[in-house]
Amino acid sequence: MTNARIPGFYKMNVDERLRKLRQARPIPLRDLYALTSETAALPFETANHMIENAIGVYPLPLGVALNFQINGKDYLVPMAIEEPSVVASASHIAKLVREAGGFTAEATEREMIGQIQVVGCPNLEAATEILLQREAELVALANAAHPSMQARGGGAKHLQVRVVGEAGTARHSQMLVVHLLVDTCDAMGANVVNTMAEAIAPRVEELTGGKVYLRILSNYTTGCLARARCIIPPEQLATRGYTGEQVRDGVLCAYRFAVSDVYRAVTHNKGVMNGIDAVVMATGNDWRAIEAGAHAYAARFGSYAPMTEWRVDELGRLVGSLELPMPVGTVGGSIGIHPMARFARDLLNVRSAAELAQVVVAVGLAQNLGALKALATDGIQRGHMALHARSIAMAAGATGEMVEQVAARLTELRDFSLDRAKELVQALQAPRLTHAVR
Ligand code: MEV
Repeated sequence: MTNARIPGFYKMNVDERLRKLRQARPIPLRDLYALTSETAALPFETANHMIENAIGVYPLPLGVALNFQINGKDYLVPMAIEEPSVVASASHIAKLVREAGGFTAEATEREMIGQIQVVGCPNLEAATEILLQREAELVALANAAHPSMQARGGGAKHLQVRVVGEAGTARHSQMLVVHLLVDTCDAMGANVVNTMAEAIAPRVEELTGGKVYLRILSNYTTGCLARARCIIPPEQLATRGYTGEQVRDGVLCAYRFAVSDVYRAVTHNKGVMNGIDAVVMATGNDWRAIEAGAHAYAARFGSYAPMTEWRVDELGRLVGSLELPMPVGTVGGSIGIHPMARFARDLLNVRSAAELAQVVVAVGLAQNLGALKALATDGIQRGHMALHARSIAMAAGATGEMVEQVAARLTELRDFSLDRAKELVQALQAPRLTHAVR
């Protein structure tokens, strides 16, 4: 059992934080070593095997979002992200939601789609019919190409055939697209799906008399969705200078802005993806795939819309929900080899990829509410700049204790320019230099 409530976590030093984490959730020593060793987080040796022409590794801060309770279970959520405020904001909203009973979440089956493009079929209708008649044969052929997936209870399950393009136009000429639906169990499964799509392509050509071109996974995984929901009574939303009702109505007004305006919807969704990408990256998953699918899903009704939905229920409570394609995995890809991804999986303590998908959408929903709540009240800059001030201090050359001193002064002055930060660093360094010269 995890305890995701660790009061005062942000004030502790890293050793204390790790001690608290190990009390809240037993983390294997191997993971802890990877986390704390400067060179071992991703050894170059491993990186060198992961991609071509490797010349180093590119680290990002790894934080942990606290307070998450989803379907009655506590989660400590790892987040890899360079942007200040994101982890703090997710933790803050998770605390409010926890006090209101926690998030509820669910996930659909995990059916990935392998697409096979068939062009030049002499008769599209006849080709469609024959493919559907031979569904069992093609599914068996696909499974024979990757039998271990079927042995685990997954594997290729069905076939769908679509005709896409417009008749009679050269640019959009009609073609057949075969969808091979594959249950990839706890893997994201891109390699499995691609292997299967390639394996059945020659038989698809034989049956249809057409020529197969592309054989590739679709990142629009409408058969692998996850949903999260939260309900918060207004009194819990009250903040310095604003009543709960004011905050609730401000969030709704911000949401209506995103519904009505694509310029705002994109930024609204960027805020959702701040949370989602950070967890997806920390857990070693493919965030480009998640991004691509999420934005397409946001446009599924014909125009680009906010990913989340906010409303008020009959008791005056704020109700939020988020549903997205979420083809994350807990095995396969870089997950088994990247020490940080292993650490993230152990910290999260999820039993399946479907459970991880639910955590990810809950974080996306929390992140969105965090942004809307701040934007509809004080604005985000106050909190954001206070955190960002540390980065400016470091960019100006501050090290050690000086980082906090310069950041605090910049916040006091409400001047976050690099020039001002450099002046402050120089002023703090001056006595030390004099001392060193003497
Ligand atoms: C910044 O990274 C994200 C926000 O712009 C999201 C939003 O405006 O909803 C604060």
